[in-house]
Amino acid sequence: MYLSKEEERILNGELGEIKAKAIKILTTLGDIFNAEKLIPIESTQISGVSYKTIGDAGLEFIEDWSSAKVVVESRMNPAGMDLNDWQDLGISREFAEKQLRIIKALTSMGVKKSCSCTPYHAGLVPTRRSHIAWSESSAVAFANSVLGAMTNREGGPSALSAALIGSTPNYGYHLAENRIAQMVFEVNFNLTNFDFTLLGYYIGTIAKNKIPLIKGIKQANWEQLKSLGAGGAASGGIAMYMIPNITPECESIEKPERIVVSKKDLREIQAKLSTGNEPDIITFGCPHCSYEEIQEIFMNVKTKNKIWIYTSNEVKERIKNIPSNIKILSDSCMVVSPIKELGIKCIATDSTKCAHYSQNLSQIKCVLKSREELLHGN
Ligand code: F3S
Repeated sequence: MYLSKEEERILNGELGEIKAKAIKILTTLGDIFNAEKLIPIESTQISGVSYKTIGDAGLEFIEDWSSAKVVVESRMNPAGMDLNDWQDLGISREFAEKQLRIIKALTSMGVKKSCSCTPYHAGLVPTRRSHIAWSESSAVAFANSVLGAMTNREGGPSALSAALIGSTPNYGYHLAENRIAQMVFEVNFNLTNFDFTLLGYYIGTIAKNKIPLIKGIKQANWEQLKSLGAGGAASGGIAMYMIPNITPECESIEKPERIVVSKKDLREIQAKLSTGNEPDIITFGCPHCSYEEIQEIFMNVKTKNKIWIYTSNEVKERIKNIPSNIKILSDSCMVVSPIKELGIKCIATDSTKCAHYSQNLSQIKCVLKSREELLHGN
């Protein structure tokens, strides 16, 4: 892999041991994937922030690196708890202390204390065709597909390394020739809001990590596209999808495999992911809600059941007049927080990604329904 004089100096340790380790991670990745060089990036979004998911080994790794400084705008993925309200929620002090050490180490490196999987709802919107190094899978799908930015699905350490060096190896989704759909899915019916998460999940189970081109969707807003990408990233490894007249890029290989999606396919996904009956709590915000979504929830809520809404800190600060049965939580989410230890055995969600990981990662049951049904108490 070609390295500039400056990059050689970093690799040789002239800018410190941590930066040398960081560029070593990037060049090793570049060598594995045949990247020719490193390319400058605009921003990073770093996963592996929750103590629940990275444990003591991850905490130690981040603290070891904490003397180095990031050189591009960098944000964190959700942590294991709301950084202000953790005591109210019943998070143990032992967990909280370790979580706060992770946040302290990252902020001392210059990573912004904005822990969200939807940084694009919180002021970080990459420009089209810009190179970025993001790691939360739903944010990667959104950035590539909807914003037209270019990122691979980074791991936490590679995103952090990219943040410290300001560049990433040029391979995968950074190359125009790899941003071409390999499969076509046809949807011949009108999609409800809820169908977008089901459709994404369904497509991910078939397309795996290929780029799907989805025909038949006439219009879609950011929230619907966010749900679609999150579902596909959870069930498969979708990092980019294309929709004619909606996504900025839309090109497929000649004669791609063609799959017709039926309403029944989507209902089967819902049935497969619905494993519970009696939710202890209703949760929204996987991926994190936008300000507009929260206002809409407030306007339509009829149920008196307990609702937790997850969002970014930036959005939470703008929220006023919160109904009494609703709690707004930031910095965290129902999947990466120790929700089972809080005594919760079953949650209701409108997100296939949340249902998928709650069962696989947290071993709790799920009721998967549309937001409208959950808000009406059905
Ligand atoms: Fe975000 Fe957590 Fe879902 S990180 S996409 S709310 S699993």
